[in-house]
Parts: sequence; C-alpha cells; structure tokens
Amino acid sequence: MNDQNITWHNQKIGKQDRWLKNSHKSALVWITGLSASGKSTIANELERRLFQCHINTLILDGDNVRHGLSKDLGFTEKDRKENLRRVGEMAKLLVDAGILTIAAFISPYNEDRMMIRRLFHDGEFIEVFLKCDLSVCEARDPKGLYKKARAGEIKDFTGISAPYEQPEHPEIILETDRIPIDESIEIISSHLKNTGIILNGQYL
Ligand code: ADX
Repeated sequence: MNDQNITWHNQKIGKQDRWLKNSHKSALVWITGLSASGKSTIANELERRLFQCHINTLILDGDNVRHGLSKDLGFTEKDRKENLRRVGEMAKLLVDAGILTIAAFISPYNEDRMMIRRLFHDGEFIEVFLKCDLSVCEARDPKGLYKKARAGEIKDFTGISAPYEQPEHPEIILETDRIPIDESIEIISSHLKNTGIILNGQYL
C-alpha cells in the first residue's frame, strides 16, 4: 500500500492522562495455548475479578473475533497471521484507551506473538502461556473439534494437523492441567500488582 499521502496525527489526550483518570495503568494480557487449554475460562474469570475492583477491562476472544473482525479468515498459517495482526492493532487501540485488555487466542506461532509484542512498550505485553497437555485438551474437547480433527473433518487443526510452538520466554506459565483456575488468576493478578499496572489496594 502507498502510504505517502497519509499523515500521523498526534492527539492531545495521551495514555498517561487516561491512566491518571482511571487510577490504574493499561496493558495487554495475551493468553496463548491449545484449544480447550482454558483460555476463555481464565480470561473471563480474570476480567470478572478486575471488573469488581473497578478496573476498566475488555476481552478479545478468538472465537468471537472470528465472527466479525476476522470472519473472512480461516486457519492457514497466513490467515492466522492476518487474524493476529488485526487483533494486535485492535489491542493497541484499547491499551491506548487505558483499558486493561485480555486477549485469548491460540496464536500458535512464535513469530506472530513476537509481532504483537513489538507493538507495545516493555512491560505492557504480558504473555501468559497455558501449558496444558494435548491429551487433556483432547479429553476435554468441549466443542467436539478434536474428534472432528482426528476424523479429518477439520484441517489445519492446532495440535493435530497444525503446529503449536510453545512460547520461548513468556512472562507467565500456567499449568492449567495441574492447578485450579483460582490459582491461575492469583498468579496473573500478582504479576499485575508487582509490575504496578494495578495498585495493591485496588485489587481485592
Ligand atoms: S488463531 O490460531 O488464529 O489464534 P483463534 O484463537 O483465533 O486461532 O481461533 C481458535 C478457535 O477457532 C478455536 O477455539 C476453535 O474453536 C476454532 N477453530 C476452528 N477451526 C480451527 C482450526 N483448524 N484450528 C484451531 N482452531 C480452530
């Protein structure tokens, strides 16, 4: 695309102004892992707890985004990259708007997650890897997708006929096949407190 004729406009109200107004900072909590590893569950429980403490939040969820923003995309490597590029840009707008954003996407490729990390300042992108054994995800199979993938009815299915590259240096690893949801939420919220994104007294 030729962007020679497009100018970037600086805006008068910045992220810091919004942080002051909200009494908390914004960041992107990026939850990655296999289908059925618990991404949506953890995103929702985390949001519920943050919301109760008057923290401005929003969830971007893979299944939901694929009903709208990315409804034209499938699951090839190229389509996943484009899906995640869009989500990354959207998340950047939300973080700029002062919102503590929670994203739940399989995001199986290291390169795509790195692309999103690069959009953010140090400490603003918090990669949370849900380390859950494929056999456990497959046994859970809440949407029956693993069964279909094994039967060859879904192609490029992550973990079965498409790869999942484990994050190399995630900020947080949660073994969701071993620890309860509450413990996962505690680990994420401690990280948010310890890094000053939310205040100690703000989160109960
Ligand atoms: S990503 O790879 O581009 O990050 P995303 O998180 O948006 O994936 O979408 C994953 C969801 O799409 C899964 O939770 C599952 O319900 C559904 N899905 C449908 N087909 C596939 C497939 N081939 N591989 C993985 N998930 C799929």
